[in-house]
Amino acid sequence: MASSFFFLTLLLLSIISAATPCPPSERAALLAFKAALTEPYLGIFNTWSGNDCCRSWYGVACDPTTGHVTDVNLRGESQDPMFQKLGRSGYMTGKISPEICNLSNLTTLIVADWKAVSGEIPACVASLYTLQILDLSGNRISGKIPTDIGNLWSLTLLSLGDNEISGEIPMSVVNLARLKHLDLSNNRLTGEIPYDFGKLAMLSRALLSENQLTGSIPKSVSRINRLADLDVSSNRLSGSIPVELGKMKVLSTLKLDGNSMTGPVPSTLLSNTGMGILNLSRNGFSGTIPDVFGAGSYFMVLDLSFNNFSGRIPGSLSASKFMGHLDLSYNHLCGTIPIGSPFEHLDAASFSNNDCLCGNPLKAC
Ligand SMILES: *[C@@H]1O[C@H](CO)[C@@H](O)[C@H](O)[C@H]1NC(C)=O
Ligand SMILES: *[C@@H]1O[C@H](CO)[C@@H](O)[C@H](O)[C@H]1NC(C)=O
Ligand SMILES: *[C@@H]1O[C@H](CO)[C@@H](O)[C@H](O)[C@H]1NC(C)=O
Ligand SMILES: *[C@@H]1O[C@H](CO)[C@@H](O)[C@H](O)[C@H]1NC(C)=O
Repeated sequence: MASSFFFLTLLLLSIISAATPCPPSERAALLAFKAALTEPYLGIFNTWSGNDCCRSWYGVACDPTTGHVTDVNLRGESQDPMFQKLGRSGYMTGKISPEICNLSNLTTLIVADWKAVSGEIPACVASLYTLQILDLSGNRISGKIPTDIGNLWSLTLLSLGDNEISGEIPMSVVNLARLKHLDLSNNRLTGEIPYDFGKLAMLSRALLSENQLTGSIPKSVSRINRLADLDVSSNRLSGSIPVELGKMKVLSTLKLDGNSMTGPVPSTLLSNTGMGILNLSRNGFSGTIPDVFGAGSYFMVLDLSFNNFSGRIPGSLSASKFMGHLDLSYNHLCGTIPIGSPFEHLDAASFSNNDCLCGNPLKAC
């Protein structure tokens, strides 16, 4: 009885899968994609055999009703048991074949953290209109970001970080109206941040650090109501901080460190109670530090070191609720270090190399 039920189930399952087999053209495209890559340690591509690419091909998934391939999800860092036995993270060489673009119903393309996948991003990727996730981070991909990337109107995540990508950020990027997460960090990008970057209304994280970007931070950024995390550190940005950034409702992490920015710090940026991580270190910021802290100030990190700030340390800092890591070293500050609980756990390194600061934890005044 139990066994006949088992065979009935098996029969049903095979009928269902026969109803939605992998289309031969898509299987051919996957095999061409596989042929351009070499993964020597895990053998993930050994599973890519047989006719039905929708069943048991590692990282491949299909739409259960149409049978079209929708996901190619290959991550070099994974909890998968296959990786446990390797005892190291994944490694893969080769390049991303343009035949991947024959999978015209693809919603997810992830080839991430394989360390050595090289070559360029095929330009035809910009014609995969159904793509929602494009993650090629953590490889050695070079060349430019496809000019028409902005055609991918369904894209919510674009992650190309930790590669060797050069050229400019294509202007069309600002047309990605559904984009929530943009990571282009640690590449070789040059040129400016598109002036109408603020068109990316759904964006919550923008990571552009460790490139060679020039120009200033576009004012339009402040129009992105959902932006919580903006990291443009370690670039060659100049100009001053747009005053509007201080008025952003959900911005909680702002990293501008390691650029050539100048001018004052808008007081709204420091009085904004949502701000939790603010790193302005290693720039040319000047003027006094606005005395606008209060009971709502809660900073995990406030790093203003290696700038040209002058005047006194604002007394209101001692009223702040939390000051995890404060660094005011290497400026031109002078006067008495305020007393108060936020200062009690800080050591001399937070205040060193100023013009004439005194008081605990430095020498008495
Ligand atoms: C991909 O599509 C192109 C254009 O339709 C075709 O010439 C090529 O043979 C296809 N590649 C595979 C591997 O099916
Ligand atoms: C799948 O791709 C084909 C060819 O581009 C297209 O005609 C069809 O509408 C797509 N189906 C879905 C469910 O997106
Ligand atoms: C702030 O940025 C500087 C320069 O990039 C870096 O050295 C420092 O560690 C950062 N501060 C914190 C607290 O992360
Ligand atoms: C620092 O500020 C002083 C005036 O306060 C100015 O003379 C000097 O040029 C500034 N230095 C830098 C590196 O911006």
